[in-house]
Amino acid sequence: MPTIAAMQRVQGVVARQKNAPVELTTVLVPDPGPGEAVVRVQTCGVCHTDLHYREGGINDDFPFLLGHEAAGIVETVGDGVINVEPGDFVILNWRAVCGQCRACLRGRPWYCFNTHNAAQKMTLEDGTPLAPALGIGAFIEKTLVHSGQCTKVDPKASPAAAGLLGCGVMAGLGAAINTGAVTRGDTVAVFGCGGVGDAAIAGARMAGARTVIGVDIDDRKLETAKRIGATHTVNSKNADPVEAIRAITDGFGVDVAIEAVGNPTTYEQAFYARDLAGVVVLVGVPTPDMRLDLPLLDVFGRGGALKSSWYGDCLPSRDFPVLIDLYLQGRLDLDAFVSETIGLGDVEAAFDKMHRGEVLRSVVAL
Ligand SMILES: NC(=O)c1ccc[n+]([C@@H]2O[C@H](COP(=O)([O-])OP(=O)(O)OC[C@H]3O[C@@H](n4cnc5c(N)ncnc54)[C@H](O)[C@@H]3O)[C@@H](O)[C@H]2O)c1
Ligand SMILES: [Zn+2]
Ligand SMILES: [Zn+2]
Repeated sequence: MPTIAAMQRVQGVVARQKNAPVELTTVLVPDPGPGEAVVRVQTCGVCHTDLHYREGGINDDFPFLLGHEAAGIVETVGDGVINVEPGDFVILNWRAVCGQCRACLRGRPWYCFNTHNAAQKMTLEDGTPLAPALGIGAFIEKTLVHSGQCTKVDPKASPAAAGLLGCGVMAGLGAAINTGAVTRGDTVAVFGCGGVGDAAIAGARMAGARTVIGVDIDDRKLETAKRIGATHTVNSKNADPVEAIRAITDGFGVDVAIEAVGNPTTYEQAFYARDLAGVVVLVGVPTPDMRLDLPLLDVFGRGGALKSSWYGDCLPSRDFPVLIDLYLQGRLDLDAFVSETIGLGDVEAAFDKMHRGEVLRSVVAL
């Protein structure tokens, strides 16, 4: 006789079809199977990627259960789970590394090709399986994930701030620290001062950069960038950012230029704003239609490196606990990224605020 897994009924935010407003609806969450965990979500940030899902920009696997920048408490675990236990405070991650693929076996698990997600599906009441955003789905009271997606951190951290390490803030911090390898005395420019770009600014500061230049087309964003640690700002609507960055860096350009918009124009600006042998890091996500046209001789002649950064090349088990400790010691202001806390029913309104550029992060608190 097949056994029917026990289920919990909870409220979650679902995108049923392309461009339709999201809905708060009942979701069935199965009890954790082997290697899985059910987490009671405390907070979940609203990321641009959630909006991309609901606009059909990622894929067509509707209906989606949105939300993926979350912190919470482990409620139950399935057989064989040893990294967490009920009651643990965790940040959810979308890089539960497999330990078996070529990247993992070569000792570079942050490039893992085969990351784990829960094997069972959360469903709508009629049994329709939900596709969880980035394999998480955390605009919901309780979510089912692979246990490797739970990273235990110091429970003294505020869940609203800690959860942001689960995606955008980690992507920005890691673009500077891991991918760009910003180090003491470096000069850095960050194009796009949203949540991701500002985190890159914070990362560059923390790594000891001497000059950190924030570039944006919105003065409100440049004000926040300064608060978060930019030593200089450039509004690229009013000034040529390449010229401005050269002027700030004694004519040289920066050692590390980070693109956090996802657009060929800003990429080209980043490319030319760096000094000879500098590094360009692309963390902004382009759309499939975008093309880049650069003189190959400039790619060769300027030397250095052109890199892309997915999730800040982070290894959650290595990076999250360290960053939370720095936060608790007052050395990384994660609270500065939380613009407002909202309810589960307010996600659609938060997308509008994000569009209007009014927030770094709206965070759903449950
Ligand atoms: N690589 C990753 O792992 C990863 C993870 C999360 C998000 N992202 C991507 O990072 C990018 C930024 O995300 P976010 O949450 O900060 O978005 P956001 O919308 O909050 O910020 C984007 C910023 O870019 C500015 N901007 C727009 N056009 C510009 C231009 N021409 N020149 C300068 N600035 C400009 C906007 O004013 C805004 O401040 C997005 O593409 C997002 O999808 C990447
Ligand atoms: Zn792997
Ligand atoms: Zn995200």
